[in-house]
Amino acid sequence: MSDAQTLTINGHQLEFEAGETLLEVARRNSIDIPTLCHLKGATPTGACRICVVEVAGARSLLAACATPATAGMEVQTESPKVVESRKLILQLMLSSGNHNCAVRGSDDSDWTRFQLQVHGDDGSDELCPVWGDCRLQDLAYRYQVSGEGFTGTETRYPMETVNPFIVRDFSRCIQCGRCVQACNDIQVNNAISFGYRGPASKIIAAGDRPLKDSDCVFCGECVQACPVGALVEKDVRYDIRQWNTKKVRTTCSYCGVGCQMDLHIQDNQIVKVSGTDDAVPNDGSLCVKGRFGFNFVASGERLQAPLIKENGSFRAASWDEALDLVASRLKTLRDTHGSDCLGVLTSARVSNEENYIANKFTRAVLNTNNIDHCARL
Ligand code: FES
Repeated sequence: MSDAQTLTINGHQLEFEAGETLLEVARRNSIDIPTLCHLKGATPTGACRICVVEVAGARSLLAACATPATAGMEVQTESPKVVESRKLILQLMLSSGNHNCAVRGSDDSDWTRFQLQVHGDDGSDELCPVWGDCRLQDLAYRYQVSGEGFTGTETRYPMETVNPFIVRDFSRCIQCGRCVQACNDIQVNNAISFGYRGPASKIIAAGDRPLKDSDCVFCGECVQACPVGALVEKDVRYDIRQWNTKKVRTTCSYCGVGCQMDLHIQDNQIVKVSGTDDAVPNDGSLCVKGRFGFNFVASGERLQAPLIKENGSFRAASWDEALDLVASRLKTLRDTHGSDCLGVLTSARVSNEENYIANKFTRAVLNTNNIDHCARL
């Protein structure tokens, strides 16, 4: 280990590679530095300053997410100065906008001082849709901070609910910019950006139009990146609580890319879909179909049994009856007209294994090479 490639974090001497940030070195060594605006895969902006650390000899606290590791650095991640700074930032965020973490209908005597404060400021009974799944809430509890001490700011912009997928609640936005980076740097859709200035600042789509009238393709990457309740899935707003769901990893079946996704299951139903972090090929990203197109799974309109057409109309049949019928028709056609009168269309939506079986069935059983796929099947 050469001195030129080591630094010290909280007294531990650690190796680093050229180009790594302090945050990356810390995380690789299981040292927790809280972040809000940092988004993996995007250029660090250092906007929220919650990740500040104390570096010996530096004139001010440095944002760990945006500071390159340098040989010989001595870093403290939870020094009194660091904690004081993080508390102040959190206080400012909590006093700005609507951060109502109060549990609706709970006994007042059970509420923490923090909850009472935000409830009083907000004057709303509405439970935040991401209660229990909010980075700002986590940090407020971790550092025991409320919005007290600062005059609360009013919400300037109304909630946007006019598209079928995403609710934009500007009153809960902390302007961390993760949604902008997710849209521009990760998905490269360039549909949203920061707009206006100072207290009027807002995340806008082009011309400050609703998302539905913008270049937004509703991939939902912004929703997944939002660390608070400013962007939430419209369908399940208020219907799910993170602690009531379990995640099941699966492969998206909409196309052949094989994106990895986590199904969030509540009461045996899929209630939400998110991209699986750190998994190829999509590295956490999804498209609109993968993220929002899951209602068909529990649709009452799905076929429950095979249908056989007789005299112009369908009747339900058992699988045995349907398969016997198909087998006998295929055999008759092959015996009468030869194998090449038959063909099989399979689908990009099924798994590799299912397509492999279809291939074997076509070539080895039907004895023809007439097999293709249709992306829409
Ligand atoms: Fe580093 Fe926001 S996480 S500045």
